[in-house]
Amino acid sequence: MPLARGRFITLEGGEGAGKSTQTRRLQERLQSAGHEVVVTREPGGSEGAEEVRNLLVSGSVDRWDAVSEAMLHFVARRDHLLRLIEPALAKGIWVISDRFTDSTIAYQGYGQGGDLTVLDAVRRIAIGDFDPDMTLLLDLAPEDGLARAASRDNEASRYDRMGLAMHERLRAGFLALAAAQPERIAVVDASSAEDDVADRIWALVRERYGLSGST
Ligand SMILES: Nc1ncnc2c1ncn2[C@@H]1O[C@H](COP(=O)(O)OP(=O)(O)O)[C@@H](O)[C@H]1O
Ligand SMILES: [Mg+2]
Repeated sequence: MPLARGRFITLEGGEGAGKSTQTRRLQERLQSAGHEVVVTREPGGSEGAEEVRNLLVSGSVDRWDAVSEAMLHFVARRDHLLRLIEPALAKGIWVISDRFTDSTIAYQGYGQGGDLTVLDAVRRIAIGDFDPDMTLLLDLAPEDGLARAASRDNEASRYDRMGLAMHERLRAGFLALAAAQPERIAVVDASSAEDDVADRIWALVRERYGLSGST
C-alpha cells in the first residue's frame, strides 16, 4: 500500500490571537491520535527562510513597500515548502504551520495595500497551486490581540508596531479570505479561554479527518 501523504494544516490570525499556543495544542492532540507531526512557522521554518525572516520582523515599519515585502515572504515560503514542508508530507508526516500564504495576502494586501492581483501572481510564481489542506483562522479583535502580545513580549516586533487601523484592515482581510474559501478556512472565535479554543479546533480537525478519540 502506498504511504498516505501527510496533511498540511495552517493557523492564521493577527498578533496575539493564539496561533503559537494553539499550534502546540493541536500538535499534542494529533500526536496522541497516533500521527507523526512537525510544527513550523513563518516567516521562517527552513535555514534560508529564517535568514529572510530577519529582514521582515525587525527594523523600521516602512522599510519595505508592500509588494517587495510580499516577495520576500514568498522567497522564504518557497524555500520552506521545498526544504521542509513537502519532504515531510511525502513521508506521511503531518505539518502544522504557524502562518502561511494567507498572512501575506492579509498583511501585505489588505493591511498594507499591496495590489491583490500582483500578490496572487507572485504566489503562483513562488509556490504554484500549493495550498494548505486546512486553515484555522483565529479571529480576535486587534486591541485584544495586541494587548496579549504586549504582555507576552519585552519588545514589539515590526508587525506589532504597525498601527491599529492596519490591524483592523488585516482582520477584515483574513475574514474576506475565509468567506471566499470556506471549504479550506474555518473561522475560530479566539476570544475565549485557551482550553476552549483548543477544544473547538480539535473538534474541527477531528471532523475533517474522521479522527477518533476525544484527547
Ligand atoms: N485564549 C487565550 N486567552 C488569553 N490569553 C491567551 C489565549 N491564548 C493565548 N494566550 C496568551 O496570549 C499571548 C499570545 O498568544 P500566542 O499564542 O503567542 O499568539 P500568536 O502566536 O497568535 O501571536 C501569549 O502570552 C499566550 O499565552
Ligand atoms: Mg506566535
